[in-house]
Amino acid sequence: MDSAQFENPRSARRAPARITVTPGGPLVVRGDVEIVDTLGDPVPRRRATVALCRCGRSAIQPYCDGSHAVGRSPIRGE
Ligand code: FES
Repeated sequence: MDSAQFENPRSARRAPARITVTPGGPLVVRGDVEIVDTLGDPVPRRRATVALCRCGRSAIQPYCDGSHAVGRSPIRGE
């Protein structure tokens, strides 16, 4: 388990939002951002910091499951 699993989502969501692009990996989202699905319904978020998949390979969309790192071509634009 990493330390992010023990963060208090409520306290972290008060901070300004920050989205970090990781090389060849997900978008790491910190702060008060609501994530919604294609219908506009909220996507459950259990952590204050989450990683959003941008390669399309994750089995737990919209979140990253690490599949981007499994020997495939890099994410376009990198
Ligand atoms: S970015 Fe990690 S599985 Fe897609």
